[in-house]
Amino acid sequence: MNTDQFIAKSTLKFVETASFTWQTPSNIALVKYWGKSNPQIPKNASISFTLNNCHTITRVDFIRKEKSDEVVFNLFFEGKQKDEFKPKIAEFFKRVQSYCPYILEYEMTINSENSFPHSSGIASSASGLSAIAMCLMSLEKELNPNLSVDKIHKKASFLARLGSGSASRSIEGPLVVWGNHPEIEGSSDLFGIQFPYKVHPFFENYQDVILLVDKGEKQVSSTIGHNLMHKHPFAENRFLQANENLSKMSKILQEGNSKDFINLVESEALTLHAMMLTSNPYFILMKPNTLEIINKVWEYRQENSSNICFTLDAGANVHVLFPENEKENILQFIDNQLSKYCQKNHYICDTVGFGAKRL
Ligand code: PMV
Repeated sequence: MNTDQFIAKSTLKFVETASFTWQTPSNIALVKYWGKSNPQIPKNASISFTLNNCHTITRVDFIRKEKSDEVVFNLFFEGKQKDEFKPKIAEFFKRVQSYCPYILEYEMTINSENSFPHSSGIASSASGLSAIAMCLMSLEKELNPNLSVDKIHKKASFLARLGSGSASRSIEGPLVVWGNHPEIEGSSDLFGIQFPYKVHPFFENYQDVILLVDKGEKQVSSTIGHNLMHKHPFAENRFLQANENLSKMSKILQEGNSKDFINLVESEALTLHAMMLTSNPYFILMKPNTLEIINKVWEYRQENSSNICFTLDAGANVHVLFPENEKENILQFIDNQLSKYCQKNHYICDTVGFGAKRL
């Protein structure tokens, strides 16, 4: 795999100071990524809806300094210095510095905030790392004005991936594929691409209401979960199935078959959790209220001939997906019947979005 294409040019026109602010979203996978090899190479291709309202806003200030061996940075989260978040970001910079060696010649100050409450159980690594990646690429563009927008997006996704796999799908929207797949033109294990085919209008402005069932820290991190796929007895079949499911999903998205969409999305969510249930050691991230909500969603769908469906991330929260024309009724249903299963009745209304925005 040719990663050399992502090494910054050595002849850069350095500036003394620079500052960039980016807003980048979270995303929710329809066909899930679970299992990887080093360095963050997925075992199967995945596809996600880019979200809109769940996002991170990050400003990075760069001040030129003598070149050092290690990246120098300060980190503020919601206005407060956050040294406990530093090791993860330091590890990210270590992984990207061979592709962005210019960061060794700057002191960086990162100011970050999320639109969703901290420890809401919504993973902030996808939006957080993609935002830093976009700030780095804005600096690189300043130092090398010839960089094209396409190259900036690809490299930002490539960098974000090195921090968190799913972050590679948070640069563009509304649908992003990450992972090499024979039927998706231009797809790659190294970065996410926009779904390259025309999407049926049924999926336009699709809605995602995130029901916050459990806001606590996950008992098993996604890093540990991914690693457990190495010796998992069903892993190879799962990777094959996921790639087949992506072929099916590609057709569904182009043709607009809502029944097939529902079936595939829910099956993917339950399969992800089935992999967790059958890992060794095994673990369960769903909570009793996760199952209550799933059953209510099924009941509502049946009784109202609705296109509502659910998906799950690596956690207990439930993403409720539906087309825009059902918004009024479903929001009422959520408020009346599902919010009681959420911590403090909290849920977040989101829609599919279009990716990173410079502020
Ligand atoms: O990006 P990571 O390493 O946090 O893994 C995320 C994996 C899932 O969210 C469970 C699935 C996915 O494809 O986003």
